[in-house]
Amino acid sequence: MGNYEQVKMLDFPQRGDDRGHLVVVEGMQDIPFDIKRVFYIFGSDKDVIRGQHANKKTEFVLINVAGTSKVKIKDGKGNEKVFCLDKPHTGIYIPTMVWKDMYDFSKDSVLLVLASEHYDPKEYIRNYAEFVKKIEEREMR
Ligand code: TYD
Repeated sequence: MGNYEQVKMLDFPQRGDDRGHLVVVEGMQDIPFDIKRVFYIFGSDKDVIRGQHANKKTEFVLINVAGTSKVKIKDGKGNEKVFCLDKPHTGIYIPTMVWKDMYDFSKDSVLLVLASEHYDPKEYIRNYAEFVKKIEEREMR
C-alpha cells in the first residue's frame, strides 16, 4: 500500500460523563506511532493555507480539538483528497511522503498536531516540484 492510501481518519475513545467530555489519545495505541512532539495551530485566518510540505521522516496525526479546518492530501501523481476535521474525537493520520495543505480554518480553530519525530527542518520538503521528483524516483526503484 502506498503512503497516500494509508492516510485515514481515526476515531478516538470518548471517556466523557456528566461532568463533560474527555477524549484519550495514547501513542502506539490510538496513534500509530510514539508521540515525540506536540504543537498546535490557532488564530489562522480563513484564507490562510498552512502546511504545504511533505515530510521524509515524520508521521502526523492532526486533531481539531476546537473549531474546524480542512486538510488536502496529494500523492504527487495527480491524486488528491480532502478531509474535514470537525470533531474533537477524530483526527487524520498522515504518513511520510505525502503533500499536505491545511486550510479553511474556522475562527475558533485549534488544530492539535502529534508528530512521530522531533523538529528537523531538513526532513521537510517545501517545494512541490521537488516532492514530485522524489515520488518519481521512488516509483522507479
Ligand atoms: P511551519 O512548518 O511552516 O508550520 P505549518 O506547517 O503549520 O504551516 O512552521 C512555522 C515556523 O515554526 C517555522 O519557522 C518553523 C517553526 N517550527 C518549529 O520550530 N518547530 C516545529 O515543531 C514546527 C512545526 C515549526
